Amino acid sequence: MCGIVGYLGNGNAYDVLIKGLHRLEYRGYDSAGIALVAPDGKLNVFKAKGKVENLETICNDKDTDASVGIAHTRWATHGEPSDCNAHPHYSEDGNLALVHNGTIENYKLLKDALEEHGCKFHSETDTEVLVQLIEYIKINNKCSLLEAVREALHQVVGAYAIAVVEKNDPDTIIAARQSSPLVIGIGDDETFLASDASPFVEYTKDAVYLNDGEIAVIKRNEPLKVLNLENRESKIDVKTLEMSISQLEKGGYPSFMLKEIFEQPTTLRECIRGRVVENGKRVIISGVRDHKEKFLNAKRIVIVACGTSWHAALIGKYLIQEMCHIAVEVEYASEFRYSNPVLGKDDIVIALSQSGETADTLAAVKIARSMGAFVFGISNAVGSSIPRETDSGAYIHVGPEIGVASTKAFTGQVMVLTMIAMAIADLRGTLTADEIAGLGKVILEMPELVEHVLKLNDKIERLSLIYTYARNFLYLGRGYNYPVALEGALKLKEISYIHAEGYPAAEMKHGPIALIDAEMPSVIVAPRDHLYEKIVSNVQQVKARGGSIIAIVTEGDSVIRNIADHVLEVPEVPECLSPIITSIPLQLLSYYIAINKGKDVDMPRNLAKSVTVE
Ligand code: F6R
Repeated sequence: MCGIVGYLGNGNAYDVLIKGLHRLEYRGYDSAGIALVAPDGKLNVFKAKGKVENLETICNDKDTDASVGIAHTRWATHGEPSDCNAHPHYSEDGNLALVHNGTIENYKLLKDALEEHGCKFHSETDTEVLVQLIEYIKINNKCSLLEAVREALHQVVGAYAIAVVEKNDPDTIIAARQSSPLVIGIGDDETFLASDASPFVEYTKDAVYLNDGEIAVIKRNEPLKVLNLENRESKIDVKTLEMSISQLEKGGYPSFMLKEIFEQPTTLRECIRGRVVENGKRVIISGVRDHKEKFLNAKRIVIVACGTSWHAALIGKYLIQEMCHIAVEVEYASEFRYSNPVLGKDDIVIALSQSGETADTLAAVKIARSMGAFVFGISNAVGSSIPRETDSGAYIHVGPEIGVASTKAFTGQVMVLTMIAMAIADLRGTLTADEIAGLGKVILEMPELVEHVLKLNDKIERLSLIYTYARNFLYLGRGYNYPVALEGALKLKEISYIHAEGYPAAEMKHGPIALIDAEMPSVIVAPRDHLYEKIVSNVQQVKARGGSIIAIVTEGDSVIRNIADHVLEVPEVPECLSPIITSIPLQLLSYYIAINKGKDVDMPRNLAKSVTVE
């Protein structure tokens, strides 16, 4: 939540920063702002409520000449979205400007103390406290900006990725991180910083991921220096970015969400590549293979995640229990951390997170490790916090997901969980070689099968017109497709703002059935599987109460076709692989309903992609 970006070099800082903010807008779009140190040493700060384009409008007639600056796109936590609460925040005397992603938990205490010393505050944010504190220390201790930042960070409790610039010093940016992501890009005679590498990937592929408790000293014509809070210099570990610029653009699609839905054949291919080999006979997940003993001896697996990732985790439970015969529990990371978890060395905790930065999931990882569990991370963002804090793991390799509503990451997560379950089952002997080969063969065909499902696009677009103005939706599914129903409902509500509830189909008769009438459409995920006969009864129960039904069925289905109002046919696959196929029509349905309603699907209201606050 919130994106920060910084630039120091010989180019036009404003252009780099604005472009960078657009790339980070998925992290929040309540307001945006920029601080530039002009060549004459003047500190120019411009801010605007709303999206980055509002900031650009404001800056049109302003002096934006500078070769150093910092910028911010906000997801509001402390204080409503407004010009005043927008970052950068500056010190009382206008000497320092600071951008911040995270939360300063003891800001009230610090604010009271600073106010007693005569400091005046202009915003409701926790961030303003930090910049005022740095300036206060700088003046009173007569020290450098670096020393003042270090001293201030000793006093704050909370999460932060920050960048600070100083008036009259166009040659320095000081940045630091604690529990919020920060990556430095090292170019030729220019240095970048950002919440992720997307703002600078076209300028350099050399990146340094800061660790918690580290401060980066970025100085003109000097190599990057990284220090810890005790002032000891850290070794600089330069990584090569794998991200490409085309992954960050819409590539001719009207939105990132639609591009990402249509990318799924490719992203699944990337996700499978090198893991399902020898025509499907073998599945290699190195993070499992390298910790064989842990997976052989595990008594229980606990999967922690949030949102869409939690839905993928539920599918993971069905997969692992079916294939590996290990008990699996799935926990909301936000609840797990406060549920007095009981874990030990025979437990494996899987942390599932697209961004790799979700604060609750990261906190769960830390708790699990402190209790001696083996922690395995599944993430998309290379170099993010969860992969760095876990004992082992696997990337889903679906490329940057920019649309706020998760689509390709969901199918990538389910695919990785399937392969992990197969790799563990192979180790423990709970699947035979023939069973693995049978599934492996279909996995290799999944990209083509998904391509086939995407041909439903036009039909779904037409169908969406009938349902655009429904006020409520019910999504039903059973077994592997119960989490798909939950995910379908979440997709609809987050981008179209239509209320939708996902339910295990059989639970309907224990309450939700009371809601059914002609105004309440039900989306029923009912491929031909071992629960098919049972879900046919659920379909009939809805129909008997006058509800209209959109059903996702297996190609050639003749029973539900005669009951439902609309059917969307998908190819037949083994039951455990069906969520990857059945979730795609639901992504498209919510997409088109939201578009028909004129909503911004890439940046739905109140949401942000990377939830780095509790
Ligand atoms: C919904 C969505 C969110 C995320 C959730 C967890 O479309 O994207 O529900 O799934 O915020 O995010 P990650 O997976 O990054 O931990």
